[in-house]
Amino acid sequence: TVSKDLSRLKYHFMAPAYWINDPNGLIFYKGEYHLFYQHYPYGSKWGPMHWGHAKSKDLVHWEHLPIALAPSEPYDLDDRGGCFSGSAVDDNGVLTLLYTGTVIKDGKLIQTQCLATSEDGITFEKYEGNPVIPGPSEDGSADFRDPKVWKHDQFWYMVVGSRKYDTGKALLYKSSDLRAWEYVGVLAESDGTMGYMWECPDFFALGDRHVLLFSPMGMGNRKTVYLVGDMDYETGKFTWDTMGDIDHGYEYYAPQSFLDGKGRRVIIAWLNAWDWMPWFKNFGPTEKNHWSGAMSAPRTVELDTDGRLRFAPVEELQVLRREHYRLVNTIVSPGAEVLPKYAGSDCMEIMAEFQLTGCKAEEIGFVLRASSDGTQRTLLVYNVRTNELRFDRNQSDGWSEGVQSVTLERSGEEALKLHIFIDTCVIEVYTDNDRTVMTNNIYPDPSSINMEVFSIGDQVRMSSIDIWKLRSAW
Ligand code: FRU
Repeated sequence: TVSKDLSRLKYHFMAPAYWINDPNGLIFYKGEYHLFYQHYPYGSKWGPMHWGHAKSKDLVHWEHLPIALAPSEPYDLDDRGGCFSGSAVDDNGVLTLLYTGTVIKDGKLIQTQCLATSEDGITFEKYEGNPVIPGPSEDGSADFRDPKVWKHDQFWYMVVGSRKYDTGKALLYKSSDLRAWEYVGVLAESDGTMGYMWECPDFFALGDRHVLLFSPMGMGNRKTVYLVGDMDYETGKFTWDTMGDIDHGYEYYAPQSFLDGKGRRVIIAWLNAWDWMPWFKNFGPTEKNHWSGAMSAPRTVELDTDGRLRFAPVEELQVLRREHYRLVNTIVSPGAEVLPKYAGSDCMEIMAEFQLTGCKAEEIGFVLRASSDGTQRTLLVYNVRTNELRFDRNQSDGWSEGVQSVTLERSGEEALKLHIFIDTCVIEVYTDNDRTVMTNNIYPDPSSINMEVFSIGDQVRMSSIDIWKLRSAW
């Protein structure tokens, strides 16, 4: 029997079925957004990697397209183990993909950079001269993957993630035709505390600065990191002075950016349902419903005046808003109910602002995706004294465990502003004027849709709350 899968996401991108990981080849091409992604089309677990493909006119509504890349047959090519992550460029109108071919030969990992092109934007042909980069430079090692390509002053540049011993690195290459590549040098590397391998590096100019994004392996709880600094194309060196987290959630990984027709820098990341977390009992529960993983909401990347980055959900998401409920100037008292029963949903957006001037409350928080008896619930709690925001999923679903917390930057008289997106299994929280973002998965029962706002210790003034039920994008 087939039962309707109520945990499928309503506005975060998913594959038609089965496994998905990193976003690949993000590009605004001939007026449309293209999203490729790491995909195993024969099961809901990771397997030999294909590139799934979809396109969109607005970053919200997506049209699935045929699979763009599959591991090669006959089995004598360098990508037979899978077409790993990479990027896309518009080469004089030809949509061109750069990806990592991976294979294990005689027990040895071999990763090379490969190229494929398309005349129609749908069907791709692998370049007969593959691989275009047959192996790592002396600064790297067999872990050599995830090419991100861009153009600067008539030349193509590529950054590839690698490691040497236990130092994560981003290696820089240069080309005039995307096919013959020359090694430039180490663009940036770990200082010893930033992970043993850098996956999915991404590099771009932003305002008068440059930004390097990467997903470090072995940097503790820090899963996605950005560096802001200056680039010297003469020497190929990137000198950074500012470091931050792209997202504080454990399941937000491998973000990739692109520039769109409006001149915005946008990033999308993989929201994983993977087995690396200590409390994960292998794959996420949706694996039984034949899917695993999704994409985050697209976010714009902006440079703040102090050199830090802001990541805001794209404004296009507002087309999903339907019923709106608003309260202004509400006193939230300990133990009191503030929101009507109908306010909750498994598909919604919330914007709330709390006045902290003279506030004596210890904690302010939201109960999200709660069952009517309250036994199942997810807590998002701000501690006024420690300035910590914590996401507690110990009672979310009987499956997830753990509390994640992040210290906010807000200070003094500043109001606490939270912008929250809920989409069945996914909760995205934006705060600190979009400088702090936390994305997590939860797997509650579909009927657990109640929400409430609360205070502990004393009352707090909620200057405003806006709640929108969102429609499905599909
Ligand atoms: C990151 C990653 C990449 C690799 C891909 C394989 O999640 O491990 O480094 O290219 O996934 O699917």
